[in-house]
Amino acid sequence: MATVFLNGNYLPADEAKVSVNDRGFLLADGVYEVTPAYRGRLFRLERHLARLRRGLAALRIERAVDDLPAMHERLLAENGLADAEMAIVYLQITRGVAPRTHQFPAGPVEPTVYAFAKAFQRPDDERWGRGFSARTVPDQRWGRVDIKSIALLPNVLAQQAAVEAGADVALLVRDGIAIEGAHANVFGVFDGVVCTHPASHQILHGISREYVLELAREAGIGVEERPIPLDEMRRADEIFFTGTTTEVYPIVRLDEAPVGKGVVGPVARRLREAFIAGTLA
Ligand SMILES: Cc1ncc(COP(=O)(O)O)c(C=O)c1O
Repeated sequence: MATVFLNGNYLPADEAKVSVNDRGFLLADGVYEVTPAYRGRLFRLERHLARLRRGLAALRIERAVDDLPAMHERLLAENGLADAEMAIVYLQITRGVAPRTHQFPAGPVEPTVYAFAKAFQRPDDERWGRGFSARTVPDQRWGRVDIKSIALLPNVLAQQAAVEAGADVALLVRDGIAIEGAHANVFGVFDGVVCTHPASHQILHGISREYVLELAREAGIGVEERPIPLDEMRRADEIFFTGTTTEVYPIVRLDEAPVGKGVVGPVARRLREAFIAGTLA
């Protein structure tokens, strides 16, 4: 039985109970984070917590994050993941328990803090090397998707539409621009230059996106942050997604058409290698 963290306590998952009046349950009034750990070492936790702090501030949920690094470490240990090859810690903070109103609760409310840890596995080299398929889906999310809100219904519906269409992942498109995936950022490679949408309010500022941009620069690969029209994305030499559990995820088919030569390209291969090496450094 997994051990989870709930409001200061470590307890078996089936003993963790959240009120039906929790504003996360009723209104999706909260934010979340997913932080990876490689061989037990949390990777870029401070960046995940900085993004969490920005989200909490945007939602005006008052909860400090100082205790959370120790909580992450303990949750990995409690679940036998302190030496695991790869694991994640999922953390969610909601505004707390209060009678349902759209405006904030009248009095002070203690935020609800819930977290769990679990192992994850990347696709093996053979599966990764065959690449993946993406399906374009209209981006129907709100105007502040840079906030890692637990309100993920448009992402859920987009990913479901992609899967029902036989693809592995959704590529969200708004006003003719390839924005990002349903749970990952998207990159196109054009003549050796790696391009991705700017870190605006229209994408989640992925920690992996930032990491891959750093790796590309270090490798002397050209980098551009600009909106990429879908028509241009369809002509990319390579497309790949990035994310915490997605890592570098090559797309070889987009809406039934091959991407570039229809096989995983050299830039994705190079960045994946650097990505994995960096997590173990
Ligand atoms: C919509 C969206 N974009 C991008 C990402 C990638 O972010 P990160 O690299 O921090 O995992 C995620 C991760 O969940 C996401 O949900």
